[in-house]
Amino acid sequence: MAEGSGLRYKDKVTIVTGGSKGIGLGVVTVFVKNGSKVVFCVKDVEESEGKAVEKELNGLGIGEATFIACDVTKESEIKNLIDKTVEKYGRIDCLVNNAGSHPPHMPIDDFSSDDFRELLNLNLVSYFIACKYALPHLRKVEGNIINISSLVGSIGQYGAVTYVATKGGVTSFSKALAIDEAKYNVRVNSVSPGNVWTPLWNSGASKTTNPEQTIANGADSQLMGRFGTIEEIGQVCLFLAAEGTYCTGIDLLSSGGAELNFGIKTMKGEKDLPF
Ligand SMILES: NC(=O)c1ccc[n+]([C@@H]2O[C@H](COP(=O)([O-])OP(=O)(O)OC[C@H]3O[C@@H](n4cnc5c(N)ncnc54)[C@H](O)[C@@H]3O)[C@@H](O)[C@H]2O)c1
Repeated sequence: MAEGSGLRYKDKVTIVTGGSKGIGLGVVTVFVKNGSKVVFCVKDVEESEGKAVEKELNGLGIGEATFIACDVTKESEIKNLIDKTVEKYGRIDCLVNNAGSHPPHMPIDDFSSDDFRELLNLNLVSYFIACKYALPHLRKVEGNIINISSLVGSIGQYGAVTYVATKGGVTSFSKALAIDEAKYNVRVNSVSPGNVWTPLWNSGASKTTNPEQTIANGADSQLMGRFGTIEEIGQVCLFLAAEGTYCTGIDLLSSGGAELNFGIKTMKGEKDLPF
């Protein structure tokens, strides 16, 4: 905790990808409320949402929020995001890779190899690129990286071979990078949420035949019988950045206990699924 202020990440500079809604917004909000100077991005098509979040958070008078348009599937735009952050603040203390997506559920037969490549670019290669360009700056201040992965990256998920592969990749990439960067005292961790209520989940559920039942099933997938909130994931990230100074290479589950218990697992027969 910053001495006397009660702010846990005061004046630290944080980059969050995909920060205008969903989990990214939760991370941006929690970090700003704890005194961090946060630069966040979404694609330029969502520029107005990004600007609105920037304005609202700066109105709090704690920390700072800066929006920069960046499509994380484009290397030059990620490089620009890092460069602009360093131009403005002179340092980077924490990088949170979050921007990603989950396609609708399908068997392997219906995914094309191009679908898979596209998702890999968004969910995994973009994390690699952001780490690569941010690391020279993170090393100078012994900063840290948090990669948003997913519980399903380690336990699997029905109809989601491509998504699960990208998230398994995020978790193992984070461990390998933690090993390499330890000599610079840069920590690298991943966070694996269970179901978290976000626009992504909402839009997936709304496409099912019985959205209400789908959402109830989504809540029941956790031992705690509810979705996580975006702020709860933000808090987990803040812990890793601010206090978890002896954590590196871990995959921190924030899953409401979704990986526990023995129960109905068979996917034989019809199921109404959001993805
Ligand atoms: N919601 C969940 O239940 C859940 C569970 C586990 C993991 N996750 C992971 O958390 C992350 C965020 O998911 P969410 O549910 O908040 O999704 P969301 O769709 O609600 O938000 C995703 C954010 O990423 C941004 N984004 C997407 N493509 C982008 C691009 N090319 N360039 C820049 N920004 C882009 C979007 O604009 C948005 O701000 C993802 O990596 C997802 O896989 C989500």
